[in-house]
Amino acid sequence: MMCIHKRRDVEGRAEHVSDARRGVRALSVVPGKPDTAGVHDQPDPSDDEGSVLVQGLLVGVCGTDIEIINEGYGWSPPGQDRLVLGHESLGQVLDAPADSGFAAGDLIAGIVRRPDPLPCEPCSMGQWDFCRNGNYTERGIKERNGYAATHWRVEPEFAIKLDARLGDVGVLMEPTTVVSKAWEQSELIASRVPFHRKTALITGAGPIGLLAALLGVQRGYEVHVLDRVDSGPKPALVRGLGATFHAGEVSDIGVRPDIVIECTGYGPLVFELAGVAANDAVICLAGISGASREVAARLDRINKQMVLDNIVLFGSVNAAKRHYEQAAAALAKADFDWLGKLVTRKVPLSSFEDALVRRDDDVKVAIDLRK
Ligand code: BGC
Repeated sequence: MMCIHKRRDVEGRAEHVSDARRGVRALSVVPGKPDTAGVHDQPDPSDDEGSVLVQGLLVGVCGTDIEIINEGYGWSPPGQDRLVLGHESLGQVLDAPADSGFAAGDLIAGIVRRPDPLPCEPCSMGQWDFCRNGNYTERGIKERNGYAATHWRVEPEFAIKLDARLGDVGVLMEPTTVVSKAWEQSELIASRVPFHRKTALITGAGPIGLLAALLGVQRGYEVHVLDRVDSGPKPALVRGLGATFHAGEVSDIGVRPDIVIECTGYGPLVFELAGVAANDAVICLAGISGASREVAARLDRINKQMVLDNIVLFGSVNAAKRHYEQAAAALAKADFDWLGKLVTRKVPLSSFEDALVRRDDDVKVAIDLRK
């Protein structure tokens, strides 16, 4: 059972911050030490972090955050013990230089990854999501403090303006970027065989899966979504998109998808997907988990099937700036009521612990930095 101390200052002393003297507060942790997670007073964000000053509105919580807190994925900035969490950002611009492309009041999301300092060739071309040497940094994950702070700064070139009408559902931006890349890359790979692909399978009806389904529907696919359970809000959310919901085993879905976006991170499913995919299918692995399952698999049979059916299986992580632009456009043309139903809980920063414990009917849980 996770034990989390509530408010502590950076030295670890318990503190009580009154509303009257609230400065910048941030949620941070020593990665892998759950009992160090806490909300602390922070100095004002440094100008080094960027010229755009932002009031934090919400940060989404995902499996990566839980892994950082509980299992030690993630790295603090060099020379610091603690890492400020939060990579799924949403904020409102307080102050920005005239030539930055941002103005006070804009709804904004910060990009997660920064290129490696060398930089490698993909990073030098703005494709940090394909960093070759692994020395990239990520806000809230790898060697850079994140966005789970009441105020943060960001470089204008590493931020995206969102349609103001999105309001709080703009917190879905970062997960949407991840599936924008997954779809873009799947279609790019699929274009090696020019035929009209119409059936898509999304495995997992969590936030990533549902957003992948949204993008599939927007692209004109007949979308099928498979999840383990058929209770809770997910089946209705899938149907609300005009997609088909399936619960249970992948072998029972009765369709042969041309494109699969795997969003559960459940390793054993990878082999099963190769068994149901259509000839020339592209299977994108977009989910990860902290688990380390071992299964017996008929690898020779799978190998034969993938060879004989020309199946491509590939992994996709993170997102470049163009995926943020694609995601912003996709969210702006989505049904805002549907998007709103994905954000099932907004938990005040002061009770962040509640956001870290999953409930059955959770889809996307966000921490409200205004409270
Ligand atoms: C984030 C990605 C990040 C990845 C690995 C995911 O949760 O959405 O932006 O690259 O974790 O750190």
